[in-house]
Amino acid sequence: MGIVLKEIIKKYPVGNGGKEQVVLNGLSLSVQDGEIVAIKGKSGAGKSTLLHIMGLLDVMDSGSYLLDDIDVSCLGNKEMAKMRNKKIGFVLQDYGLVEDETVLYNVELPLMFSSAKLRKIQSAARKTLRKIGVENLCDKKVSVLSGGEKQRVAIARALVSEPNYIMADEPTGALDEATGQEIMEILKELNREGKTIIIVTHNMEIAAQTERIIHIRDGKIEEDMP
Ligand SMILES: Nc1ncnc2c1ncn2[C@@H]1O[C@H](COP(=O)(O)OP(=O)(O)OP(=O)(O)O)[C@@H](O)[C@H]1O
Ligand SMILES: [Mg+2]
Repeated sequence: MGIVLKEIIKKYPVGNGGKEQVVLNGLSLSVQDGEIVAIKGKSGAGKSTLLHIMGLLDVMDSGSYLLDDIDVSCLGNKEMAKMRNKKIGFVLQDYGLVEDETVLYNVELPLMFSSAKLRKIQSAARKTLRKIGVENLCDKKVSVLSGGEKQRVAIARALVSEPNYIMADEPTGALDEATGQEIMEILKELNREGKTIIIVTHNMEIAAQTERIIHIRDGKIEEDMP
């Protein structure tokens, strides 16, 4: 079980001239079940790119990725989406919520693609919002929420399908220190409950609260500290 990435290469085209930028350059990394890990590195180092690959939101150009012993590179788009829905809760760098809809709608959304009944979906969404301490926000539109509230809703949305992995991209980046710490406490509690948590962060105080800090530089892991 867990995540095993080997020799990952990820390139992006630069302009129209056929030139490429190598963002991840033979990166290898393993994360075990139940770990809480921070990924840091300069802006543009490839942290989001790596998290998106781990979270099955993007594909690598070469290398291998075993997620819970399943070879991800063998999966088609459909199978990959299925696996992502089942295993991964993703908290995007900019929340990624539907601003014009209610909190409840946003948290129900990941379950709308399942075969579950609407009543079940609603109660699962409410239960998850309660767990994260924002059930009172159910009927509010996301656009009126504070940054900390949006981040809690984003975490609830990531959790509602009961994934084993929570991947969060700069979850405290846009928040003040106290609110950021509250979000961190939620992630640490989820880890104590058994979830594997991967957090991308610039913030050393946040990173220092995890069990392991991974530093990315030049498309590789420069440092991996317990
Ligand atoms: N879809 C894309 N197309 C082209 N280039 C991309 C794409 N996504 C990312 N890049 C480039 O890849 C590099 C790494 O981007 P990435 O978003 O992973 O960095 P990051 O470490 O998350 O940075 P930040 O701390 O600013 O969020 C950047 O130079 C970026 O311009
Ligand atoms: Mg990023």
